[in-house]
Amino acid sequence: METWFIIIISLCISALIKPICNLILSPSHNHKKRLPPGPTTIPLISNFLWLRKSFPEFESTLRSLRSKHGPIITLRVGRRPAIFISTPTLAHQALVQNGAVFSDRPKALGTDKVLSSNQHNISSAAYGPTWRLLRRNLTSEILHPSRVKSYSAARQWVLTILFERLVGSQSEAEGVRLVDHFQYAMFCLLVLMCFGDRLDEKQIREVERVTRQMVCSLRRFDVLSIWPRLGKIMFRNRWHEFLQLFQSLQDVLIPLIRSRMEAVKRRQHGQIEPDKECVVAYVDTLVDLELPDEKRKLNEQEMVSLCSEFLNAGTDTTSTALQWIMANLVKYPHVQTKLYEEITSIVGPSPQFREKNEKANMVMINEDDLQRMPYLKSVVLEGLRRHPPAHFLLPHMVTKDVELEGYLVPKDATINFMAADIGWDPKVWEEPMEFKPERFLTHNTTSGDRGAADFFDITGSREIKMMPFGAGRRICPAAGLAILHLEFFVANLVWYFQWTAMKGDTIDLSEKEEFTTMMKYPLRAHISPRVRSQNCEGSWRLKARDRKGRAVVAGQRSERWEIGTAARRKRTLTAKVFVANEALMEPLVAIEGPRVVSTQAASMV
Ligand code: HEM
Repeated sequence: METWFIIIISLCISALIKPICNLILSPSHNHKKRLPPGPTTIPLISNFLWLRKSFPEFESTLRSLRSKHGPIITLRVGRRPAIFISTPTLAHQALVQNGAVFSDRPKALGTDKVLSSNQHNISSAAYGPTWRLLRRNLTSEILHPSRVKSYSAARQWVLTILFERLVGSQSEAEGVRLVDHFQYAMFCLLVLMCFGDRLDEKQIREVERVTRQMVCSLRRFDVLSIWPRLGKIMFRNRWHEFLQLFQSLQDVLIPLIRSRMEAVKRRQHGQIEPDKECVVAYVDTLVDLELPDEKRKLNEQEMVSLCSEFLNAGTDTTSTALQWIMANLVKYPHVQTKLYEEITSIVGPSPQFREKNEKANMVMINEDDLQRMPYLKSVVLEGLRRHPPAHFLLPHMVTKDVELEGYLVPKDATINFMAADIGWDPKVWEEPMEFKPERFLTHNTTSGDRGAADFFDITGSREIKMMPFGAGRRICPAAGLAILHLEFFVANLVWYFQWTAMKGDTIDLSEKEEFTTMMKYPLRAHISPRVRSQNCEGSWRLKARDRKGRAVVAGQRSERWEIGTAARRKRTLTAKVFVANEALMEPLVAIEGPRVVSTQAASMV
């Protein structure tokens, strides 16, 4: 018999013996309480069957198991029992009421162990002093409101880059593929917050390339973490592929970390002038941290893990959410119009976007004004509820055996919260699959205002209705920052541009699983700069020039005229649409001769 065959058979037998012994001998088996119900499983074989399922298949199987077994079920996927929780009340009982017990993370194995430097990052650290130190460092040093404010120049810089790219690719016949630009913008922002300097495009692209390559391959590497020893032998090539990707991640991030540390040292010693635009970077905050258990500073590999966690956690999630929100604004123009009206009522009419000459001092919505826009807040929340970037929270573990809903939750089980289903619960939300931002608007009975002063509690501390950021002690520490980023980008994108679907496109909201739950058919849209309508009197001449400066539209007429409504008149429709499609002609629309009676904001048709 071939040696390789004997090796595989022996490995399979040894892998089978362990789960069977566990099943018979484990304390949970002898415990009086039962594990939550679930389908019957055959050790190892069931594992393979589950692993072969695509993510949407897996999720829909879970939903049908839920209708059969109830809101808490057990599966045997991998080495430990996996418990799935799918209702807001059970999630609240576990994560908030029993927070201290439900806040541990499973032991990292295989690729997870390498990527997290053996659980030395926030998301994978066990619930204990190391996690506390790393999380407190992030929240107090980077996410504190005053620090978040100090990054506002960075947000403006990134918005300018985003506008430039959107407008630059506007002429593409098939519309702008937005997600690429959103992702790049988020990378620019998070890279700056992480390493402190405005890196050039080549460097940012490098960081984006290595982190995204790793993130997009993670699902393929799952099998290496489930049975680490067996996996490394059976999937040798995949293991080497992972190590290579990890090496390229280190090759790109380590020089950035070193150069930042060097610059900070030289600045402290007065060898270089403090830069006006200098911000505190995430790397700066890691340099002096001392691990409480090991009484030592972080090594370079641990810094790589923390920086790549920072970049991964903050870029894909936010750009995915932004894409979903913009898709809904394109699909439902009445929501976009209502949002645009709210924005202009607070900050005035849209400034005209000029491609070249105004980039340096482009007018942007003041971040404090975002707080006065309840409908904007509702649009963002509804986007996160209806399309949470993470359909499941990161796996949790309990610190000791506990009881939930009369079932045993054993210490060795992973606990998974179905965040998407929790936000779609029909007992909590009317028509949960519809996109209706109005559901978040509270009615202030004393003033009669529809407002959002004490708005929806996204942390779920009193009651969970949705949990795109999780809840309890492991809740995303950057929920506030993420919401600010979304509000800032959505508001400015809508203030400057009108977003419309491509001809014949109904905007398909099907999902696809990558690191986050993305749009299966990435959003493409037309964007046209908002123009001011002008009420004119007398003889008018409407003129626009193409990029080469030639006049392409011209006409004359004598009467009272409003450009915004003129677009709807048949005679000028072609001309206006042409102007809209050829966006950014210089000047966009010029009126010669007439006396301007009044100006007001209006969007181009
Ligand atoms: C729309 C954007 C975002 C969404 C939807 C999101 C969602 C989540 C979710 C669901 C978790 C898991 C919670 C749990 O396991 O209970 C999480 C954890 C985490 N997120 Fe976010 N996140 C976003 C943005 C960010 C940003 C911008 C950062 C950092 C700059 C960040 C850093 C983290 C960290 C460090 C953790 C681990 C927390 C822990 O284990 O204690 N996230 N996030």
